[in-house]
Amino acid sequence: MKITTIEWKNNKIRLIDQTKLPHKLEYLDIDKLEDLWQAIKLLKVRGAPALGAAAALGVYLGIKDLKTKDPAVFNKELDRVSHYIAGSRPTARNLFWGIEKICSVARKNKGKDLAALKKLLYEEACRIIENDKSSCRKIGEYGSRLIKDNDTVLTICNAGILATIDYGTALGVLYRAKEEGKKIKVFSCETRPLLQGARLTAWELNQKGVDVTVICDNMAATLMRQGKINKVIAGADRIAANGDTANKIGTYNLAVLSSYHKIPFYIAAPVSTFDLRAQSGKDIPIEERDPREVSELLFKRVIAPKGVKIFNPAFDVTPRNLISAIITDKGVIRPPYNLNIKRIVRL
Ligand code: MRU
Repeated sequence: MKITTIEWKNNKIRLIDQTKLPHKLEYLDIDKLEDLWQAIKLLKVRGAPALGAAAALGVYLGIKDLKTKDPAVFNKELDRVSHYIAGSRPTARNLFWGIEKICSVARKNKGKDLAALKKLLYEEACRIIENDKSSCRKIGEYGSRLIKDNDTVLTICNAGILATIDYGTALGVLYRAKEEGKKIKVFSCETRPLLQGARLTAWELNQKGVDVTVICDNMAATLMRQGKINKVIAGADRIAANGDTANKIGTYNLAVLSSYHKIPFYIAAPVSTFDLRAQSGKDIPIEERDPREVSELLFKRVIAPKGVKIFNPAFDVTPRNLISAIITDKGVIRPPYNLNIKRIVRL
């Protein structure tokens, strides 16, 4: 089955409602900016590259029906729409990158009449989608060279088809390895509190015929000690200039465990996830989410005493010294990251 996470269809944004998975594969057709904002906030669409596409399509959605012929009014509205979308989630670099890409097309074509400009913005959003498809395949191609026949790989959250357009970053590496005939097994950390690993990664790997086993997050150390994990691959929400990497909360735990057990720990991400303005992980904003995600199981069952304090950061930062390599669409980056990231990202 072909899975397309997000696309522009019938003059609307069509996306898979990921909160319904694995029970139902349901699509949402979005034609209001406020609905897109909610969809991003509530993780109906999620994962850094998919958020880049959502943001770009969202900017177009927000301005496409503007009736004005006055460029000043148009630019003001473009600004308002961009800020509004940027306020939905703070950590994934791609969300801001998607907005910036669209706005820079508007800036470069200032003199054009507004109908022509809208068309250019639409085309840029479509390009972002097409480029994501090809950059994920590049990541797969480079990353698969690191995977051996019969490897068992541990992953966290969902850095697959559902986090991109149709192939994935960390999971793209595994899809490619499988396409090349390598026998691989995957352990997927369930990824508390919202269970992207259990609900989404297990679902899509199953759909694609990849051998997957779900574990609770606290089982990873035991599996590593038992020698059952050969590699860990995670995605990224934002990578700083020095290589420090923000990804789903729990990724840092896996990196520490990998280092202790001498297991290679890889990050897979397109260059659009790098933020060279962030010098280190300290400069990466970390989203804190609704406490009820922790105190209630998927908002259905209360599991903590009423009124107890809850802490719910959605991401953590893995320091660069724990990362064996970063697999990108422009090649595999190895330490020293402060030199090699700039070299590859600016290619
Ligand atoms: O909160 P989420 O589900 O958006 O978090 C997503 C992740 O942490 C992914 O690993 C990351 O965005 C990389 S996706 C290719």
